[in-house]
Amino acid sequence: MTDIHSHFLPVVDDGAVNLTEAVNMARMAAANGTKRIITTPHFNINTPGTKEGLDFRREVYKRFVDAVAAEKIPVDVYFGCELYAASNIDFLLKRGVYATLAGSRYLLLEFDFSSRPEHIRDALALVATRGLVPVLAHPERYIRIQADQRPVYDWVLSGCVIQVNKGSLEGEFGRGAFLCANSLLRHGLVHVVASDTHSARERTPDLSRVYAFIAENYSRSMADVLLKINPDLIIADKHIKKAVPIPY
Ligand SMILES: [Fe+2]
Repeated sequence: MTDIHSHFLPVVDDGAVNLTEAVNMARMAAANGTKRIITTPHFNINTPGTKEGLDFRREVYKRFVDAVAAEKIPVDVYFGCELYAASNIDFLLKRGVYATLAGSRYLLLEFDFSSRPEHIRDALALVATRGLVPVLAHPERYIRIQADQRPVYDWVLSGCVIQVNKGSLEGEFGRGAFLCANSLLRHGLVHVVASDTHSARERTPDLSRVYAFIAENYSRSMADVLLKINPDLIIADKHIKKAVPIPY
């Protein structure tokens, strides 16, 4: 499997606390069938994103890559970020202060969990005008989307890629996120499932259970698309596979 949303990198955000934990998380990912990971540290959240902040994340990424290689853990590691879409996003996009997923056109975005759908729509459109493909992180965790999933249908039609968290499908974020994630799956509105791992104890990088959940409750081919095929197409910077979405 391939994991496009993760917080393995230590120190830079609320993910791994040190390099030892980061390496343990990589070992856990590999042991449970993950072959490729994109590290996506939070960026532009709490403090405004800067070029120095991005450079620091890339330095930590290089140290993590070296540690994974030294421990002979069989995973390929790529760099990206989870860009928080604050009011300065236009400024950051214009100056190129962000990191796409593995250097592709795909850019992982997150919003405040109580964001209005109109605000999300406008930010996704802004990203698309720069020639990038917006990948929306875990919309099933957003309060207004849990109440009404119709905006996600519109975002998908406008070209947005939807990423759901494995923890949402495992009940780790409560009933609202679980029901919302399954609703989006039933409507063909999910393109990628990723770990969004933050540690080796909770929010882990183990994708094997969610793969089994999707294979059992939906289909094995859907599990393959969401956890293998589409994540690999993103790394290859190619068009992903999209089902024809079912409107609400
Ligand atoms: Fe994340």
